[in-house]
Amino acid sequence: MKLSSRITGLTGGEPDGWDLFIRARKMIADGQKITELTIGEHDIRTHPDILEAMHASAAAGNTGYSLVPGSQSLRETIAARVQARTGIATTADNVLVTPGGQSALFATHSAACDPGDTALYCAPNYATYPGTIRGVSAIPKVIQTRPENDFQPQFSEIDAAATGAPGAKSLLVNSPNNPTGVVYSAETMDAIAAACLKHDLWLISDEVYDTQVWQGTHISPRTLPDMAERTLVIGSMSKSHAMTGSRIGWIVGPETAISRLIALAVNTNFGVAGFIQDAAEYALNRGAEFEQLIAAPFPRRREIARRILAGQNLMQTVPSGGSMYLMLDIRATGLTGNAFANALLETKKIAVMPGESYGLAAAGHIRIAMTVEDTAFEAAMIQIVDFAKGFAA
Ligand SMILES: Cc1ncc(COP(=O)(O)O)c(C=O)c1O
Repeated sequence: MKLSSRITGLTGGEPDGWDLFIRARKMIADGQKITELTIGEHDIRTHPDILEAMHASAAAGNTGYSLVPGSQSLRETIAARVQARTGIATTADNVLVTPGGQSALFATHSAACDPGDTALYCAPNYATYPGTIRGVSAIPKVIQTRPENDFQPQFSEIDAAATGAPGAKSLLVNSPNNPTGVVYSAETMDAIAAACLKHDLWLISDEVYDTQVWQGTHISPRTLPDMAERTLVIGSMSKSHAMTGSRIGWIVGPETAISRLIALAVNTNFGVAGFIQDAAEYALNRGAEFEQLIAAPFPRRREIARRILAGQNLMQTVPSGGSMYLMLDIRATGLTGNAFANALLETKKIAVMPGESYGLAAAGHIRIAMTVEDTAFEAAMIQIVDFAKGFAA
């Protein structure tokens, strides 16, 4: 039987970010000891107190169908958190609870785009973006941000892409950014908003790393003038609370959009398990201090990396301000990101992601996930520097 072109054409066309990851996992399965600095997964598990809240909820009988939009109290908790962090009036009616940020990416593009519409996104980008856009039968169009601009998108770049795709419906941005760690400046956010207003675009703002910021300030573009009515914000408990496996996140947007998105949820995933929602509410109510505890290892490890990278000039750190990643410009070694990452895996048994996995914009770079404990991270960074020195001119 023939499958739809939507599903057979979902992936492909872009470099496959997972090649190196799969290779490293195979080496591990074959018994080799590999230091994995690849995926965005904390080296801690979900906090026992959150698990206890989850268990208590399930044991109390909260195992049936849940309210599809999310429980009223969780939606209120998320709305209050968003309002407190951004200053923009937000109520439960502005919130839809989703099975993670990924499903929110799919839902928001469904809301913004009809089949055949163009959806813009900025690269370097989280690997699923183009596939998600194709999943709603829209056409992904990439905007390559540039290393010389510290990977901050420029008004002229967005404007040119939108002008070249008349009728484009949406722009997807991600700050703090995966893979670069860059936190978009106020100037960048203003440029993004101006381009959306000029070209009448929905702005889909992926803010799943919003608690992981140590330099600069995270600005949610929903707060900018005239943007609340055209912005759909994606949030997630995955990174902020080390709850990747629980699959819980949210969309915040205008009530009219949220009510339609609820209908989409009813007809697709039918909501998030009630005991997961209760655990998320418990976790959010632990407050900002708890979130800082979860985020704390990443600036600490970034500092370790900075210390080890000082005094060499084959690898430059992309000036990042957040997320759990470190991006290094390795062009001075003369290698591509792919060649560097594969040779590093072979010779030093360290797995990092080639920049090319995240779009051409990050060619000649590698992404290091700072997701092993400090001593192992430090040892790996020393090895990476040692490896790069082999390519000194
Ligand atoms: C930028 C970005 N957006 C969205 C997601 C999806 O996260 P989740 O579906 O776990 O909430 C990820 C996961 O790594 C990500 O890096």
